[in-house]
Amino acid sequence: MIIAVDGPAAAGKGTIARALARHYGYHFLDTGSLYRMVGLAALRAGGAPIASSTAIAAARKLDPQDFADAELRNEQVGGAASVVAAIPEVRAALLELQRSFARKSPGAVLDGRDIGTVVCPDADAKLFITARAEVRARRRQTELGAADYEAVLADIRARDERDSRRTAAPLLAAPDAVTLDTSEMDIAAAIAAAVRAVEARRTGF
Ligand code: DC
Repeated sequence: MIIAVDGPAAAGKGTIARALARHYGYHFLDTGSLYRMVGLAALRAGGAPIASSTAIAAARKLDPQDFADAELRNEQVGGAASVVAAIPEVRAALLELQRSFARKSPGAVLDGRDIGTVVCPDADAKLFITARAEVRARRRQTELGAADYEAVLADIRARDERDSRRTAAPLLAAPDAVTLDTSEMDIAAAIAAAVRAVEARRTGF
């Protein structure tokens, strides 16, 4: 059983995907962290602007140990992840790792941008989690304890733009995905809606 959870930055997909994995007893992979690891490695190797060759080399020798790096979650690394994610060779280098994770028994939940469209087009259930940019910026501001809301909003918009407009596996809802707009939902309501959507797919109702 594979559950694909896609959507833009700060829409709540990580929280929802983790909760689904707990609910069903499945494995969970935050695929954004893979791109963040590549972005962080590229920043450390040479800073801005990021060289494609550095990012490709980092993706090809990704070390899952780096998953624990505290810097992975910061916004600069999120921006770098979004830049390296547009490089087709980086995406290709990370593809098999994600697919083999998805095959884990008894099931797996993967969250990202292209899980339902490219990584696991045959996923059993696909969710596309979204929310208005202003709402996502407010949530991200709270999460980061950031002072400048306008700067966070600008960053979210820039990331949406880059993730949606790239030619390699852009951020896109799969035609068979259930879209959940969490703008007016709290966490509990969003999780409940996601479980209902997956159950509907599993049982065919
Ligand atoms: O979900 P996140 O903010 O941790 O993702 C960081 C960046 O990685 C995001 O801006 C786009 C990229 N990404 C991607 O292109 N494909 C995925 N499956 C996951 C993330």
